[in-house]
Formats: sequence, structure tokens, C-alpha cells
Amino acid sequence: MSNILRRGRLASTPDEDIMEFTSSMKADKWIFDADIMVDLAHTIMLKEQGIIKDQDCSSILNGLLRIREEGIEKLDHTYEDIHIALESRLIDMVGEDVGGRMHSGRSRNDEVATCIRLTLRDEMISLMEELHVLRRTLCSVASYNIETLMPGFTHLQHAQPTTLAHHLMAHMDALGRDAERLMCAYSRVNLCPLGAAAFASTGFDIDRERTRQLLGFDGLMENSMDAVSSRDFLIECTAVLTNLMINLSKMAEELVIWSTSEFAFIELDDRYASTSSIMPQKKNPDTAELLRGKSGAVVGSLIALITTCKALPLSYNRDLQEATPNMWKAMETARSSVRMMEGMVRTMGVNKEVMASKSVMGFTTATELADTLVRVTGIPFRTAHQIVGILAREEGEIHLQQIDTVSYRVLGIKLSSKGLTEEMVCEALDHISNIKKRKVIGGPAFEEMEKAIVRRKGTMKRAEEEISALRNGSEASLNKLIELVKQYITKA
Ligand code: ARG
Repeated sequence: MSNILRRGRLASTPDEDIMEFTSSMKADKWIFDADIMVDLAHTIMLKEQGIIKDQDCSSILNGLLRIREEGIEKLDHTYEDIHIALESRLIDMVGEDVGGRMHSGRSRNDEVATCIRLTLRDEMISLMEELHVLRRTLCSVASYNIETLMPGFTHLQHAQPTTLAHHLMAHMDALGRDAERLMCAYSRVNLCPLGAAAFASTGFDIDRERTRQLLGFDGLMENSMDAVSSRDFLIECTAVLTNLMINLSKMAEELVIWSTSEFAFIELDDRYASTSSIMPQKKNPDTAELLRGKSGAVVGSLIALITTCKALPLSYNRDLQEATPNMWKAMETARSSVRMMEGMVRTMGVNKEVMASKSVMGFTTATELADTLVRVTGIPFRTAHQIVGILAREEGEIHLQQIDTVSYRVLGIKLSSKGLTEEMVCEALDHISNIKKRKVIGGPAFEEMEKAIVRRKGTMKRAEEEISALRNGSEASLNKLIELVKQYITKA
């Protein structure tokens, strides 16, 4: 059969090179399943509105189910996109007098936008689920490292003592915002453009509400021009993915650094490591490095996507075909990165002794000492900062006597005369007591961390319930659609 799309208006056919350039078949593997669903829903609506006959509807639905079973490989890949390949296969099966009626009252423009949204919504749900597995893992690794001491860093210099739980829960919270952003973006993704046709809607008496409902969308992309031309949902989603990848990349960077012999805080499980082809002793944190590297490609996808969409006039332009794969690529990378990070964190070995011993290095208790001088003697913080700073510069251990010597130099008084005792100095310099004192909300104190973990588990549970409601809703509507299809096939 000649090409159902080109046989009317166009006289010559593109050669392979042109087809390779213009076809979206490769990327359309993402939307094959969705396209079948969209075709099924549209066909049912056409029948219910009396636009096509019951018998034709039944044959089309039947054909579509067969194509679904055959899979995408059976389609003719020389067509310019999945929509035409699918329609041609249908017409092959059921004849043009029947199959040729499916595309009444719609265009590939509303069709493709609907397919992308339908597929994306499930990808987003899967990602949200995977992200919550990672967040649960962070919570559980944190919960048995509440008392695992480590140096906290600023500028990658030892700064103040903290705990591994505090550190991991920081990442946990950052990823929580990514999860929230995904959920927000989802509400703008799960809207139905179908019925917008090319851009001006259609003169057929279609029922947009019905196809929206059959496909389980929460609402309509109402304005038919906006429906076919807007891809801000792709930009928004890819921006959310980019942010997520940046957060994961920061974590990956730490896993790399923490695995060095200089740090030796952790050891990744062998399955996430590689070795050298020449240096037999090497254990390299390749999975973490690759995650860090792949985050760059996701940033690139976002830039490519925005640049493609920039300055496109209304309404549909073929450029949009180039926009979509950027998002798929970003989605695929983000989902696998989340899974890799989860596995690495869950299986890593934690060298608690090394971390604890390093937490005392680099005078990480200096802030607490300065704070103690302020609280006990009433001197201004800035003066205490100067005194402790001078002590940090000098060699040797710090005792009340050294503090008195410096304070005498700076202030002309010995702080012991203001009530400072050796015991107080000792306590200020003890890193465990440092952590215990930091019990304000969000601080690393053991009991505060325990409470924080409980709070996070609570919010996660609520978020997980929301996500599973989305999952169930999406699955239920598509199952219902298939049920209805089967009814309509047997009825006719
Ligand atoms: N492959 C196209 C895309 O991804 C489908 C829509 C084609 N529409 C058209 N008017 N050529 O955007």
C-alpha cells in the first residue's frame, strides 16, 4: 500500500537519508503503549457520539488490541512517526473503509501531546516511588548512625563535629523537595489535550470530557491552540529532574571523596565499584562517578529543550518533535541514578572509628569554646572569636591557663576571674558534648535527630500514600478502558 499520509498532496517520496532526519520513530518507542490507549479511547468516544458505526468501532478496537499484542517491532518503521505507522497497520488489518475512520476529529498534534502526557505521568509516578525508596534508605541508614560522629565541613575544611545521621538527613530533606516538585509538576502534566485536533478543535461533535475520563486525566488542556503547542510541562518536568540530578550528583561526589584513602569514611559495595586494567589493587567508585557525570547530560537536556522551544510561534511546529526526547533521556537517567544511589547508600560500609577519629581533628570544637567563653564570662562573641582564633593559631593543647594568657593579652583580664573553669573548657572541647548541645530543631543532637527521623517518616508515609493513589488511579482508569474495549468488541 502506498503511504497513507503522502499519497494525496505529495508527489515524491523522501529517500532514507531524509527519513532518518525527519522521522521520530526511534523516540516514539516511548509512546507506543500510550498511543494505543489514546486510539482506543478516541475510537470509543467516536462511537458513543455516533460519529462511527458500532461495527466499525468494534473492528478498529479489535485491530488495535492485536497491534498492541504484536508490539512495536511489527510496525513498519519507515513511516515518519508512530501515529502513522500504527494507523497504516490498522488499515492493513481491517481495511481503509473501517480503519480509515479512526483519525476523524483529531490530528497527530493533539494525539502526540496526549501520548507524551500519558507516558510521562507514569514515568513520574515510577520516579516518585523510586525516590521514596531512596529516602527510606537514607532514613534507615541515618537511624543506625545517629551516634556516628564525623567532622562536618564548610569549604571542605573540618568545621564542627556532627553525625552521619545529620549529614544523610540533610540529603534526605533536599530529595524531599525534589519529590514535592515532582508532585506539583504532575498536576500540570496529567491534563488532556485530546480533541484539540490540529489546533482549532473540530467540527465533529466529539466529547472531550469523555476521552479525558477514559484516559484518567485530571482535567483538560482547554484552549485547543495551547493544548497542541505548549511544552512547558516538559520544561518544568526536566527542570525538576535537573534539580534532582544536581542533588544526587552532590551526594555522588561525597561518596567518591569519602571512599578515598585520605577520607576512608566509607567503602562502597564491590558491585558498585570497578577496578583498573593495569593496577591490580584498584577499587574505583565508578557508579558514583558515572552518576556525577550523567548529571551533566541532564543539564544539557534541559538546555537543549528550552532552546528548542524558545520563540516558537503558535501553534504546532515540527521542532516540537526534537524537544520531547530530551525529556525522555533526562527521565531515564534520573530514574536509574536514583536507583543506583539507593543501592550504594544501602550497601556501603561505614568506618565509624575513622569518622569519629577524624571528627576531633582540625579543632572542630572551636566554635563551642568561643560560645562557652561568651556564656560564662559575658564577653562579646567577637572578642571570644578573637581569643579562640589566636589559640587555634598557636601550637599545643588548650587548657584554662592558655585561655587566660591570651585573654589577658587581648582584654587585660584572665577569664578564670570571670568564672571560667578547667572543667568548662574541657566540656567545650569534647566533641560528643558539642553535638549533644546542638539540640535546637534541625540540629545534630542525638535525641533531636531521632525526633527528626520520626517526623520525616511521618511525612514520607503521607507522600507515599499520595503517590500510590496516583498509581492506582492511573492503572484503574486504563484497566477500565481495556475492559470497556472488550465489552464493545463482544457487543458488536
Ligand atoms: N512526530 C510528531 C511529534 O513528535 C507528531 C506530530 C506530527 N504532527 C505534524 N503536524 N507533523 O511532534
